[in-house]
Amino acid sequence: MNYKLSRSHYRNLVVGTDTKIPLSNGQLTTAINFDNAASTPPFVSVMEEIVKFSTMYSSIHRGTGYKSQYSSQLFEEARLSVLKFVHANPLQDTVIFVKNTTEAINKLSYRLWEGKKRSVVLSTCMEHHSNDLPWRKKFQVEYVQTDLQGKLSLEDLEGKLIKHKGNVKLVTVTGASNVTGYVNPIHKIAELAHHYKAKILVDGAQLVPHYAVNMKPKNPLQHIDYLAFSAHKMYAPFGIGVLIGPKETFEQGISEFVGGGTAETVTHDWVVWEKPPHNEEAGSPNVIGVVALVAAIKTLTALGMETIDHYENQLTNYANSKLKSMPGITLYSQTALGEPRIGVIPFNIKGLAHERVATILSNQAGIAVRTGCFCTQPYIQKLLSISPKQMEFYRRSADAPRPGLVRISFGLYNDFAEIDVLTQLLERIIKHPTTYI
Ligand SMILES: Cc1ncc(COP(=O)(O)O)c(C=O)c1O
Repeated sequence: MNYKLSRSHYRNLVVGTDTKIPLSNGQLTTAINFDNAASTPPFVSVMEEIVKFSTMYSSIHRGTGYKSQYSSQLFEEARLSVLKFVHANPLQDTVIFVKNTTEAINKLSYRLWEGKKRSVVLSTCMEHHSNDLPWRKKFQVEYVQTDLQGKLSLEDLEGKLIKHKGNVKLVTVTGASNVTGYVNPIHKIAELAHHYKAKILVDGAQLVPHYAVNMKPKNPLQHIDYLAFSAHKMYAPFGIGVLIGPKETFEQGISEFVGGGTAETVTHDWVVWEKPPHNEEAGSPNVIGVVALVAAIKTLTALGMETIDHYENQLTNYANSKLKSMPGITLYSQTALGEPRIGVIPFNIKGLAHERVATILSNQAGIAVRTGCFCTQPYIQKLLSISPKQMEFYRRSADAPRPGLVRISFGLYNDFAEIDVLTQLLERIIKHPTTYI
């Protein structure tokens, strides 16, 4: 099948794009989903593959039946599809299947943890809580600064690497921001990290579904050591996530979870652990989730990640230019033409609480967005210039309305016409705010 189809055909690749939902006046409308940074609906191909595979589904690894062997082979071969998709090194790297990006990062934090030593990890001021909190207790964490626009400061990164004189264990950075949509220069960051003897983890939760990612295994300076991402943000929402990294990281020590599948020989006195990735995947694995992920990778590859990026960029530029021209709107991300970004746009309407805007969009036009701080509170505190003193106030006042933003985020199936529906409604809200308060 030729997937290089015209734009509207992308819609047919995704389940539920025609679903009708009720508005507050009782009328039905076609749902518009601008909350793809949180999670995407499944591809049709993913659903088809799941149904097809379900007739052959069986317990994997130790089953002796035909179906079991078939399922086991498929599960193991899936690792190769994943490695290929992000150009990892099949000889050196391993693919560990987890639930999601959060679990992947937590897992790596346990593996890199050196007990009492508390080595240094450089995170950044723009990270999702999932790429911040897992590092806090086990490492001495420092945060690389962002500038006034919220973009990462490579000067500050280098300054921190120099300050620690080769003692930074890991630089952990998001590939793309779930708040501003900024895409970080991951290979430049890798160069800096490696130059100062640190490794790099890229949180690919927002990057991998929208961008061609290459871990560059053959480039000793620019290569990405570790990559984490979630299938539910890439059209395969069936509970699977991925951690990729060198096998040797997972060869020593013991995984944070142990049990069935992780050990080769067990007595009451000693254990011989399985080799990676199996020593890291405790319990019965999510085979259906893996089938879904491979199907999504196939479809994304057939479409071409560059083509997807290009299309989503057009959507973003279109929406951005419309929002920019509206007097009541404050935008919280700015990119020059051609500067890499994903389809995430954060904004607020003057005089209207972010939660209220989201409710109006849903009630009046069936548009789903996200509001609040998107599990990225320190970054948003910085973007909104909220002082530590103000944060103390919120800490003490559980019922006080919280600051935040409205976020729209695109998937490849979104359309220009949907953006028009959004911007027309926003114009009405700005013109007649009292109607909506
Ligand atoms: C940048 C980023 N990192 C990590 C995560 C966590 O992903 P998950 O909820 O799939 O674990 C998210 C989720 O939105 C994210 O946007």
